[in-house]
Amino acid sequence: MKITDESLFQSKIKGVLITEDEIKAKISQVAKEINERFASKPLLLISILKGSFVFLSDLMREIKIPCEVAFMAAKSYFDETSPRESVQITLDIDRDISEYNVIIVEDIIDTGRTLKEIVKILERRKPLSLSVITLLDKPSRRLTDFNADCSLFTIEDRFVIGYGLDYGEYYRNLPYIAELSE
Ligand code: IMP
Ligand code: MG
Repeated sequence: MKITDESLFQSKIKGVLITEDEIKAKISQVAKEINERFASKPLLLISILKGSFVFLSDLMREIKIPCEVAFMAAKSYFDETSPRESVQITLDIDRDISEYNVIIVEDIIDTGRTLKEIVKILERRKPLSLSVITLLDKPSRRLTDFNADCSLFTIEDRFVIGYGLDYGEYYRNLPYIAELSE
C-alpha cells in the first residue's frame, strides 16, 4: 500500500521508543570499543541492507580508525519443500575477506535466521575475525541459537519502525525508533 497522506503516515506511529539522543550515546560507546579493539587492524564493516544503512552511517562516522564498507542483502521466503522459512542472499559482496576483521552491522535480530545464514556464509570465507553488531535485539522472538556479539538495545516483542527500519518500506526516515500502532 502506498502512503502519501501525512496524517495517515503519522497515525501509525504509536510513540517514540528510543530517542535520537539515546541512539547517539550508545553508538559513541560502541564506536569507542571498536576504535580500541581494531586499532591497526584491517577492518571491514558489512552492512545488511536495507535496514542497517542509517545505523551504519552514524556508526562509521564515530569510528576513527581506517575501515572499509561493503553491503549484503537477504530476504526470507517460505520454501514449500521444507517446513521452515529459508533465507536467500539477494546481494553478496564480491571481494576476498580473508585479510579482514569483519563486523556485520545489522538493524534488528528477530528470529535470528537471517544472520545465522549470513554468518555461516561469511565464516566459510575465513575472515581474520567475524563479529556482529546489531542496533536492536528481540530475544523473545528467537527461533535459532543465534546471538550477536553486541546489541545496542534489547526490546520486547513489538514491531518497531524508524532509523532505517521499515513498515511496508515506509518510516525508514524517522530519526528515532518508534513502535508501530496496530
Ligand atoms: P530475522 O531473520 O527473523 O532475525 O529477521 C531479521 C529481519 O527482519 C531484520 O533484519 C528486519 O529487516 C526485519 N524485522 C524484524 N523485526 C522487525 C521490526 O520490528 N521492525 C522492522 N523490521 C523488522
Ligand atoms: Mg535487516
